[in-house]
This record gives sequence, C-alpha cells and structure tokens, in this order.
Amino acid sequence: MENVSAPLDDDSVDISALLKMGPMAPISNTHATYAALRNNQPVLDVTKITSGNSQESKTFLITRYADVKHVLKDDVTYSSDINQRTMGIVMGPTIVGMDGKAHLKHRTLITPSMTPRVLKGDNFHDVVRRTADETIDAFVGKGVADLHHDFCFKYPLKVFVSLLGLPSDDLDQVHHWGIDLCLVAHDPGKGLLAADKLLNYLTPIVQAKRKSSDSDMINMLVNAQINGEKMSDYEVVSFLRLLVLAGAETTNHLLGTVCYVLLHNPGLMARVRDDRSLIPALFHEAMRWESPIGTLMRDATVDTEIGGVAVPKGSLVLCHIGAANRDERQFEDPDRFDIDRVDNEHIGFGYGRHYCAGSHLAKLEAEVALNALLDRLQDLKPDMTKPSRIIGFSFRGPDSLPVSFAAA
Ligand code: HEM
Repeated sequence: MENVSAPLDDDSVDISALLKMGPMAPISNTHATYAALRNNQPVLDVTKITSGNSQESKTFLITRYADVKHVLKDDVTYSSDINQRTMGIVMGPTIVGMDGKAHLKHRTLITPSMTPRVLKGDNFHDVVRRTADETIDAFVGKGVADLHHDFCFKYPLKVFVSLLGLPSDDLDQVHHWGIDLCLVAHDPGKGLLAADKLLNYLTPIVQAKRKSSDSDMINMLVNAQINGEKMSDYEVVSFLRLLVLAGAETTNHLLGTVCYVLLHNPGLMARVRDDRSLIPALFHEAMRWESPIGTLMRDATVDTEIGGVAVPKGSLVLCHIGAANRDERQFEDPDRFDIDRVDNEHIGFGYGRHYCAGSHLAKLEAEVALNALLDRLQDLKPDMTKPSRIIGFSFRGPDSLPVSFAAA
C-alpha cells in the first residue's frame, strides 16, 4: 500500500484571529489549531470573538467528528434556518435554509434534476469531457499555466452553464455575478447587486423554459411537481443562485486540492496516471483532507448540550466539517493524505437530511476533469519559484497552481 505525505503547516494560529478574519480568511496554517481545539476545547464558546460585546445569543464552534455528525443528524434540535437568515439575503428562499416538511418538499422537487444520467442522458460524460477539453485548449499551447485560474476556476462554471442550457457567451458574466454573490459577507453592496442582476437575468429564462420542451436542468426544475404543486419562478431562480455557489465554487476547490496533492507527490501522480480506477478514492481522500466547505451553521432550537457543554436555545453552532474530517478519533494518522485509506467516511458533503444533493454530479465532473488533464498534459510539474498554498476557513482550496507541462 502506498502512502504519501503532502506538505502540512504545523504552526498553530490563534482561533480568535482566525474567526475575526471571517469566512474567507486567506490563511493556510489552520490544522494545528483545529487539532488543539479537538483535544482541549471541542465545544468552544466563541460568542465574544464572533459578536464583540453583544451576548444576546451564544455561538459555539465544534470540531470533533462525532459531535459534528450528531448535530447534522439531529435536524429537530438543530435548525438550518440560520442559512436562510444569512445566505437567504442574497439567494432568496433556498433548500439549505429549510427544515422539516418544507425541506422535504423542496428536496423531492429538486432531486430528479440533479442526477447526471437524467441531466444529459448517456451524453453527459461527452458534454462534460468536451467542456474540459475546451478549457484546456485555451492554454495547452503555452506549456505553462496556472491550473487554479485557467482550469479549476473556469471549468465547473462552464459545466454548470451547459447543464442549465444557458448561452455560452453569458459564461463570464454569470461567473462574475457568482463570485460577487460569494463575497456578500465582505461587501454586502456588491453581493446584493449581483443577486439582483442574476434575478433579472434568470427570471425571463425560467419563464421561457416553462413553455419549452428542452431537457436541461431548468426545464426539469420548472416542471417538477409534488401533489400538483410546482416551484414558483422566484423559487427556481433562488435555487439556481444557490447552485452557482454550491455547485461551481466547491468543485473548483476540490479539483484544485487534488491537483495540488498530485503536483507535490510525483509518485502518486504517476500511479494515478497509470491506474485511473484510483481517481474516485483520490477525490474522497481530498474531500476529507482539505474539505472544500469548512463550516456548516445550525441554530439550537431548544436548551441542549454537546459533549457535556450546555448549549442554550437560540445558540448558533458552527460545525467545522474540515476539522472533523481530521479527527484522530475517527481517522488513523489523519494529517496524512492516503488514497488507500479504508472506510473513509468523511463528511465533506455534509451529513443527514441536507447531505449534498449534487454529490454525484460533483464527483463525475471532477473525475472527467482530472482524466482530461492527465490525458493532455504530460510531464506536469509545479513551478517551485511560485509556491502555492491551500487557504481558507469556510471555503478551502489552493490560492494558485502554477505549472509547466508538455502537451500530449
Ligand atoms: C466538491 C463539491 C461539493 C461539495 C464539497 C459540496 C458540499 C456540500 C455540503 C457540505 C452540503 C451540506 C450543507 C448543509 O448541511 O447545510 C451541500 C449541500 C448541497 N449541495 Fe453540495 N457540494 C458540492 C457540489 C455540489 C454540486 C455540483 C451541486 C449541484 C450542482 C451541489 C448542490 C447542493 C445542494 C442543492 C445542497 C443542499 C441540499 C439540502 O439542503 O438538502 N453541490 N453541499
């Protein structure tokens, strides 16, 4: 069995500093901090750090695998409404902020539109591979690239635009709005403007799809029904705005981390080049090792306790799935990147009723992309004069991936 180690920062950073930097903190050395929290303060009251002097309701950060899984599973004690009160400002009403029957209804409505097989029939693989090849065509002649910017960042959104059946000329504009949406916590004005632009752009498209017989994702969403009830145009647009982030940004980070690991471990790169059946395990281990989404939020609906710590009703619970996925109580030698790991029950796609609805799509999309990169870029090497880092607190992936290669 081959194990590989990838570079690991071992300097701990103060958790107060980390939380104050906010969800998009451009920081790499987080894992030693999380290990210390898991061992010493697994249910940490961070109220004073996150809300200054206001103590109206408490905030807890939890980092152990068992605690995080417990909270995500118990959707009665822990509500997702906090997502509605935060992301809902730019997205509108979406499934990630719903509980109970409302969630079940929406999940039933959207699920059929999310399976790759249904989306593009047997053609799905070809459509996605073509998108990967076109993205590579744009830089392959140069012999150098920043795989983060030139591929990982662009490709998932291109796939997404194709799945939605949007005109490909609109790609850059949709991407731009998507990025601004993501930055709403830092720049609310920009985020809200982008949300408005996407609403104006998508509403007529959704309305037209109600009358068309296309078989793309928007069509499936407008036609989906449960007990004769369909989603309104606004609900469909809100869901699509969520997908711009949930679908494109996350897959970007996953692909980036996989490329980062392979570039820093030539032995593993050679092994995967020769045996592509290893790719699914490679992605699963990357999801565990550097989870693209770091934290999930829940509200305590009653007075409760986590790991013996009292959590009053109304508390915000920050579930750190990135830290949980490195819990030494669950995973042997958790800082080691090991594609031969058995029983890799990571929770990078979440857990419980909100488990990622697009996980099959994400895995397939990522697998096709990596095959295309390995097929077309030989002698792939990192440019060590421009070292890249994996960064982020709530979203996590490489900041850049400068490489040289020979075109196959
Ligand atoms: C590597 C890529 C991805 C990662 C790491 C990821 C991660 C997650 C996580 C952690 C959740 C749980 C949220 C919560 O419990 O509050 C989630 C939910 C969701 N994801 Fe993904 N996701 C990825 C790709 C995608 C893609 C490609 C799509 C669709 C095209 C998608 C659509 C969704 C939707 C609709 C939900 C909400 C499900 C619900 O609330 O019931 N995701 N995802």
